[in-house]
Amino acid sequence: MRWSERQVAMLREMGVRVWAPHAEPAGAVAVADEAEAVVVAPPSAKAPAPSHAPAAAPRPAAVATPIAAPRAALPAGIATMDWPELRATVAACTACTLCQGRTQTVFGVGHTRAHWMIVGEAPGEQEDRQGEPFVGKSGQLLDNMLRAIALTRADAEPARQVYIANTLKCRPPGNRNPAPAELAACEGFLIRQVQLVQPKIILAMGAYAVQSLLRSKEPVGRLRGRVHHYQGVPLIVTYHPAYLLRNPEDKAKAWDDLCLAVETARATGMAAPG
Ligand code: URA
Repeated sequence: MRWSERQVAMLREMGVRVWAPHAEPAGAVAVADEAEAVVVAPPSAKAPAPSHAPAAAPRPAAVATPIAAPRAALPAGIATMDWPELRATVAACTACTLCQGRTQTVFGVGHTRAHWMIVGEAPGEQEDRQGEPFVGKSGQLLDNMLRAIALTRADAEPARQVYIANTLKCRPPGNRNPAPAELAACEGFLIRQVQLVQPKIILAMGAYAVQSLLRSKEPVGRLRGRVHHYQGVPLIVTYHPAYLLRNPEDKAKAWDDLCLAVETARATGMAAPG
């Protein structure tokens, strides 16, 4: 079995180079930037077409959920907020010391009823400046990963346009890791965002998204590859794009995670993106 040209093009967007068992005609195999290229095997039965091709027949997702994520109590008032109230509350938040160093809060972006919700970690320098999540280098990789499965942050219908939010809405100084107290202070905002979006699937990117949503300190590598649930919504764990930029050899695993997410979405009856 061979990759279609479209699949190859999608994988190249992620910096994933295709393994070719035989010599391939020119143009049939992606040639990614060697510095970032990783190699993946040809498509197997588990890999969905990352294209606009017709969806395969739904089949059950690979593994059932092992973790029932507890749901934190929402701070008073947040549970009933609508989008404008929530956005204004986040913008005025002084619940932890991160408010002192921020240029602005980074609330979230995308379709407010998106089928796919992406949860990252915290704003970096550029996000703090622009007020939008994932606009730096890791954001470019995230956009490419989304494009590889026919999703986008740009205007589109809710099956294609994702909603992107972070666990923290303010930039930690020097891009240090989020502190437990900061995660706890910000958690209610993320919970309410999930409640308002009502996504059909969540992609948790990196250890802090996992800590916040699944209450697990297990490494990402131990949690990926199976379907978890958050507030009843299927949740797939994958590597954070910033980690993938530092460890491009794990992009192939991230690709597997995206395939699992697409497969899970299909199994739950969601329309295939695209
Ligand atoms: N990393 C994140 O997790 N979120 C951002 O918004 C930017 C970088």
